[in-house]
Amino acid sequence: MTLDQMLFGVFPYLAVVLVIVVTIWRYFSDRFSYSSLSSQFLESKKLFWGSVPWHYGILVVLGGHLISFLIPRTILAWNGVPWRLYVLEVSALAFGLLALLGLVMLIYRRATNPRIRKVTSIMDIVLLLVLLVQVVAGLWTTIFFRWGSSWYAGFAVPYMWSLIRFSPDVSLVSSLPFMVKLHIFGAFSLVALLPFTRLVHLLSLPLSYLWRPYQVVIWNRRDSRRN
Ligand code: HEM
Repeated sequence: MTLDQMLFGVFPYLAVVLVIVVTIWRYFSDRFSYSSLSSQFLESKKLFWGSVPWHYGILVVLGGHLISFLIPRTILAWNGVPWRLYVLEVSALAFGLLALLGLVMLIYRRATNPRIRKVTSIMDIVLLLVLLVQVVAGLWTTIFFRWGSSWYAGFAVPYMWSLIRFSPDVSLVSSLPFMVKLHIFGAFSLVALLPFTRLVHLLSLPLSYLWRPYQVVIWNRRDSRRN
């Protein structure tokens, strides 16, 4: 078995099995650990300037990945007119850069604030570094291997479908440049890391807030002027 077959034909399945098994195990053994363990009360200003751009940037970028995966022909048709291709690529780049800016701020905050350092685990550091590599590799791909939004339809989409069909076509990935391969491998590494890190909060979105009855919060405190 070649290295490419290991990394792009076997590892994606290991990552998915790991995420399912460890997530279920963690849910039953330590349910309340399904969070990203807020450190807002220790430091909030840098957290705001890191977390907000990071989340807005990465959610739009990942949404773009998903849409391009689901409707590649529509994306190719959109890209058929040059100005539309530029709008798409420049927007993707802008949101990718926004995510990078936020991530660098989050890393800086953890590295420089002694109170935050105290509550930072090895896995927090590993996760932030893998995310950094992943985002830089993505931006590198966008900038140096143009036009990613078009060739994604020809290489990445059939490769992902081949994985879903349980017959991985590694040849679609083998010929890609190193940084693109790193980006794809990085994505599956993040899947594998998910249940071991604070990324697990992705699985605990408070969706029930959408349908639960609203709550009215009122002060239950006597007005001091009346006393
Ligand atoms: C955790 C998963 C992933 C993250 C966080 C991520 C993040 C990013 C970021 C930040 C960018 C640069 C911004 C942009 O131009 O859109 C990017 C670009 C890109 N990514 Fe990903 N990515 C992930 C998974 C993947 C996967 C699985 C593939 C392919 C199989 C992929 C293929 C690409 C391509 C082709 C580009 C260039 C897009 C363009 O030029 O418009 N990414 N990614």
